[in-house]
Amino acid sequence: MQSAKMTGATWDYLRSMREQGQRQITRPVNDDKASLSLYEPIARRGRPLVLAQVGQSLDGRVATTTGDAQDVSGCDGISHLHRCRALVDAVVVGVGTVVADNPSLSVRAVPGENPVRVVIDCNGRMPQQSKMLTDGGAPVLVVQADDILARRLGHEVVRLPRCGEGLHPKDILDCLAERGLTSVLIEGGAKTIARFIDADLVDRLHVAIAPIIIGSGPMGISLAPVDRLSEARRPTVNVYNIGTDIVFDCDFRRPAASLETSDQGQDVLVTHPA
Ligand SMILES: NC(=O)c1ccc[n+]([C@@H]2O[C@H](COP(=O)([O-])OP(=O)(O)OC[C@H]3O[C@@H](n4cnc5c(N)ncnc54)[C@H](OP(=O)(O)O)[C@@H]3O)[C@@H](O)[C@H]2O)c1
Repeated sequence: MQSAKMTGATWDYLRSMREQGQRQITRPVNDDKASLSLYEPIARRGRPLVLAQVGQSLDGRVATTTGDAQDVSGCDGISHLHRCRALVDAVVVGVGTVVADNPSLSVRAVPGENPVRVVIDCNGRMPQQSKMLTDGGAPVLVVQADDILARRLGHEVVRLPRCGEGLHPKDILDCLAERGLTSVLIEGGAKTIARFIDADLVDRLHVAIAPIIIGSGPMGISLAPVDRLSEARRPTVNVYNIGTDIVFDCDFRRPAASLETSDQGQDVLVTHPA
């Protein structure tokens, strides 16, 4: 596990990477290597990135059974989330999160730019008085199915064809890319993240774990079931101690190892060369 303590110089460098695109920027010397390895893949421009992030308890919960989701993450976990927001073009949530938490999705815990805010609201149930629709902050883009009654929300509404149970995450990413939004944070909740992971569209997943046990309540990640552990996802994982929370940085584009069934019918761990 690496210890990541963000310095002002490192954060300035990461922000300039995000803002100046492909232009060559000098990397700070003798700076926090762990913070650079955690955040550089997000700040880097030139190819699309889909990052998902979950802030959860030790037992994998993101809220209580009554929906209290405040302060699951410690203060460093919150700063981490706000850094991720500041380094991407757009932050995406499902309408369930808007109804439950009424978030502003802005960057407040660290200096940085606010990303475009995207709400996946297939069936048009986003409350008209939602904070992000009325706070005058960063642009909001609402993604709906094209077979529902159009509503005026005072912000751009993109209408996509319904496909199966909802909207295809690839169609959502394509419509963001058409608007120049190619670096995307999928912030939650679990249903929204699951759709993107199940469609194999997430490049990296950050699981930020806070030392709290909630015991019951909604989970941070809940994917389509698999029968055998050999079918489970095994990304390459780097672990960072960021202070109040521990971040597991999972790289889905670099599978680490997989379980395969041996001749004796047992699951055996097979490591693939990175
Ligand atoms: N700790 C964290 O990191 C974190 C972050 C965010 C949220 N949360 C928590 O997560 C909970 C909410 O999560 P959730 O899983 O219930 O809801 P959610 O993921 O926020 O929203 C799910 C809803 O969004 C719509 N949706 C998302 N993707 C879609 C797609 N591809 N096609 C069609 N519709 C799509 C659907 O709306 P319809 O139902 O209208 O079809 C779906 O039911 C809250 O308790 C919140 O506090 C935690």
